[in-house]
Amino acid sequence: MAAPTTLFRPFTRLVKITILGKEFEVPENNPLLRCFQYLAPEAISYGRFCWNGECQSCRISFDLGDESASRAAISCKLMVQDGMRINGLTSEIRYGLRTLDLPKADE
Ligand code: FES
Repeated sequence: MAAPTTLFRPFTRLVKITILGKEFEVPENNPLLRCFQYLAPEAISYGRFCWNGECQSCRISFDLGDESASRAAISCKLMVQDGMRINGLTSEIRYGLRTLDLPKADE
C-alpha cells in the first residue's frame, strides 16, 4: 500500500538515506518520521507515535557522513537531509520498519 500523498509536505524529488546501512529513497522536505511512514505506510501509521515531540518513541541517532559526528534526535521533528545515515532506532521504530528487512543492530 502506498502512503497517501497528502500526508507529506510538498516535495519534487526523493533523497537518499541509509537506515542501519541499507539505502532508501524518501521525499525531501519532510520530517524523518514521515519519511519512515513513506517506506512503511501502514506500520508507522499504526505505531505508538505522538508526532509532536512528547513521547520520545521516535528517537534515532544519525550522522551526515564519515566526517560528521553522531547525533541523537527525535525523528518527528528532524527534517530529512540527503545522505543522512540513521544508525540507531528505538524498538518502536524498528517494529514499524519491520517490512524493510533491516539488519540486526543495537538501538
Ligand atoms: S513521535 Fe513522539 S516524540 Fe516523535
